[in-house]
This record gives sequence, C-alpha cells and structure tokens, in this order.
Amino acid sequence: MAFLALYLPSGQAPEGFPPIIVPYPALVVILSLLVLILFIKLQPKQPVIKGVPGPFLDIFCWGIATKLAVISGRSAYQFQMLNQSYGKVARFSAGQATTNTIKALRNIYGAGAGKGSAFLKSSFYRSISRRNIFTASDPGYHSSVRKLFGPSMTPASMDAHAGVVRECILRLHDVIHSKLQTGSTTLSLNDMLYCHSIDTVSEVVLGKSLGCLERGKPYFWTAQLPRIFYWATVRDQFDGSGIPTVMKWLLRRLIRKGIRVRSEEARMQLIHEQLKASHTRRDIMVEVLERAATSGLPESEIAENFSALMLAGFHTTQNALCAVIFFVLTHPESHAKLVRELQSAFTSAEDITGDVVQRLPYLNAVLTEALRLYPPVPLGGPRVSPGAYVDGVYLPAGTEVCTSLFALHHNPDYFNEPYEFIPERWSEGSTDKKEAVQPFLVGSRSCIAKYFAKQMMQFTIAGFFLDFEAEYVGPVKDWQRESRCYAFWDLPDLKLNLRPRPRV
Ligand code: HEM
Repeated sequence: MAFLALYLPSGQAPEGFPPIIVPYPALVVILSLLVLILFIKLQPKQPVIKGVPGPFLDIFCWGIATKLAVISGRSAYQFQMLNQSYGKVARFSAGQATTNTIKALRNIYGAGAGKGSAFLKSSFYRSISRRNIFTASDPGYHSSVRKLFGPSMTPASMDAHAGVVRECILRLHDVIHSKLQTGSTTLSLNDMLYCHSIDTVSEVVLGKSLGCLERGKPYFWTAQLPRIFYWATVRDQFDGSGIPTVMKWLLRRLIRKGIRVRSEEARMQLIHEQLKASHTRRDIMVEVLERAATSGLPESEIAENFSALMLAGFHTTQNALCAVIFFVLTHPESHAKLVRELQSAFTSAEDITGDVVQRLPYLNAVLTEALRLYPPVPLGGPRVSPGAYVDGVYLPAGTEVCTSLFALHHNPDYFNEPYEFIPERWSEGSTDKKEAVQPFLVGSRSCIAKYFAKQMMQFTIAGFFLDFEAEYVGPVKDWQRESRCYAFWDLPDLKLNLRPRPRV
C-alpha cells in the first residue's frame, strides 16, 4: 500500500513520486511508538505537589481532563468543578493548582512584588507577545512601566475624558439609529459593541478613533488577541510534549503566513504614527509622553506598551457590555428598575455626566452583578509560587497556581443563589461577601484601566437604556453556560429587537 497516497484527494500517488510502501503492521508499530513517545514526553517533569488533592488519573494522564476542557472552551466550568470536588486548592496536573477563595486570591495576587515573595507571572505570558506591561514577569521592569502609565488611569484622570467617552456613545447610537432606519428592527449587537470598545479605547488612549463603527467592521489586527491567547494556553498546557512545535509548524503552513507579524506591524505603525502626530487634546498618550523622559524607557518600549494597553481593552470591555445587556433584558424587574433610575437622572445619553452616573446605585449594582456572573477574564492569570502558603496550603516553589475568578464569583460560601442575576445583593443588608467579586483582580498586576473600564460601562449601559427600548430575541437561555471560554469568552449572539425610546 502506498502510504503517501493516503494523503492525496484522488488516492493516487503523484506522477514522478515513487510510492513509499509501508505495510500495515509497520504502520501500527510506528503509530504505537509515536503514542509511547508522546506519553513519555507528557509525563510530569516536576514532582506531584504534595498535600494538594486533585484527580488521581490526572497525574499519570497529563491532566488530560483539564487540557481537553481548555481546548474545548469548558475550562471555566472544569476549574470550578475541581474546587467543588477537591476543595479550595485543587491540583489539576502534577505541578499546577487552581483556587476559589478570597484568602487564596489575596495570597497569590496581593503578595508584595518583593524579590522572593511575589507570585510572578508564569511562562504562559511569554508566549503571548514581547515584554510589556501585561506580559512582563520582572517586577522591576513592570513597576517602571506601571509608574509611567498609572497616573493617567486614576479616577480623577478618567473624569477628564468623560466628554470623549460620551461622544463615542453618541456615535454608537447614530449607527444603531441608521440601521433601524433601513427597516430592520432586529440587530445583533456583538460586533457593534466590539467596534465601539475599540473606537473608545483608541480615542481615549491614542487621541484618535479607529473608526471601526463607521467602517462597519474592526481591523483584522484587533481581533488577534483571543487567538494569540488561545494558542498560548494550548502551548502552556502541552509544554514540553512537542505538540506546540508540531502545531506551530502546521499552522504556519495551513493558515495565511505571517498573520501575527502583519497584525503586529499594523498595530505598531498606528502607534508610531500617533507618537509623531500632533494631538488636539490631552489624551493618555500626551500625558504619558510628558512623563516618558524620566522613565528611562526607550521609545520602542513605550510603543510596545501602548500596543499592549490597547489590546487588553477591546474584548474585555465588549464581553462585559454584552453580558450586562443580556442579563438586564432577561430580568424584566431589574430592567424596569434600571430605566426608572436612569430616567430620574437624565433625559437621554446626551446629558450623561461622569459624576452623576458614578453615583447611581442600581446602575452600578447591575454592572457589578454582571461582572460577578461573567468576569471577562474568567480564569485569573497563572502565577508561579515562590514556595508559600495559599489559604493554608503550602505550594512548593515552581508550582503554577491561579484563582479562577469564575469559580470565586460563584463560590456558594460567599453568595446566596450564586448563579442568579440579583443586583439587589449589592445593596445594604445583603449577607453576600462582596469582596469576593474581583473581576479586575487585586494587587500590583491588577487591571491598570479599571476606572476607565468602569467609566465606559457606566456611560454605554446608561446611554443604551435611556435611548433604546430593547427586547432580547436571541436563541440563548443561559448566557454563562452557552458561552465558550478561551481566555476571554466566546459570546453567544446578542440579538435584540430595538426601537428608539420616546423621550420623557
Ligand atoms: C471590563 C473590562 C475589563 C476587565 C474585567 C479587565 C480585567 C483585567 C484583569 C483580570 C487583568 C489581570 C490579567 C492577568 O493578570 O492575567 C487585567 C490586566 C490588564 N488590563 Fe484589564 N480589564 C478590563 C478592561 C481593560 C481596558 C479597557 C484596558 C485598557 C485600555 C485594560 C488594560 C489592562 C492592562 C494593560 C493590564 C495589565 C496590567 C499589569 O499587569 O500591570 N483592561 N485586566
């Protein structure tokens, strides 16, 4: 039998190629050897973490259940199930563990950045991109970048951008209105909210909207992050097995060449253009460049960090906005209560101001409750133990550990009816443990743009429910269970029936 011919559509060997004859028994031997090599390669390279319970089979089967869950987008549920079955610190492969408690979160992410005591970012981040604010594990480098960008991300600094954010909301509404005028009242908001997130982040950070909303679609390079994260996760899970190398080789040949290189070039070209351009207002880039001279960072590093800052904001914000709209529209009482509160404060999106919107209790309860149920970064980030206790369990140096934000936010020890959307749990009198909700993480590596993200959510959601009457008509009953989780969420269709809301 010609082995080579198996791979040809016609089943024939190409002319001029002498067929390679491999008899079936030899094929079986070769395949068995390959499986054996893979089995040996995937065996744990480090000793099994002692005293940390987890599935017995996963020690010898390479944590296969978790690996399959990661590949198939079920990792958020897999990690949650591990904590439910094995306790607050659960092992999911020989040297990796996941946690779901407030104390563990504080121990891991809140530990000081001092040498020897910090839980540093794992090698997972190195496969995402070059060194930058997001991927760096070196505390010294990270703190110099954080000092450069941090002062432009405080609540007071964000207040100065409120007018720009409101303009972005009005542009979003113009696009929705013009789509409604074409006759269709049913719209899917996923892409529009994604374009809106990109335009708002680029407007505030770089001083220039990328115009994705007007263009009707995002640029190809903006969509790369989930893919990069997905492959970084797969690579991390199968590290040392040879699988990542084979995959890389295959992908290079099967998928358009250099897509990652091209998207990086497009992104950096935009950033370099803006670094040279004259800016018409004090956006974040203007502020950062004023401080840059004292930071000691070369321009190339500053550009790389702007690129990281931008990318980190697109999907996270869109994931959050879509989830809020779904939860509100599928809970009629919350919907009515929210609209009443918004109408008591504003007439339409045009009147929204930052100081008022920050003080609306029900709006902010709705946003936090949606972030609890659907944290845009569901798994927290993997860190390496320096050899320390995590919620009373000793993790030897080198153990990889994370707190699953999804599992923490649904921990029944902290929340009554953890799966239910109940904004009222954020009012006084509720016994729920509110500090267990940390969608932006805690500590020195928490989200630098937390206040910016909150501002975008407050303005977008308030504006949307003031200006539109909406009804969810998509196919999904349970937004959480019907989403796939690949670093960020792969969202269901946010399909709505929409009409402009008459002004009161
Ligand atoms: C609702 C929206 C958002 C959520 C829930 C969120 C959540 C997070 C989380 C959990 C992390 C830590 C990730 C890890 O350690 O692996 C993080 C880091 C980060 N986020 Fe966000 N984020 C949001 C929006 C944004 C936006 C809009 C931007 C930028 C404009 C941004 C920029 C960053 C950056 C640069 C980091 C790395 C910070 C560091 O390591 O010092 N995020 N975010």
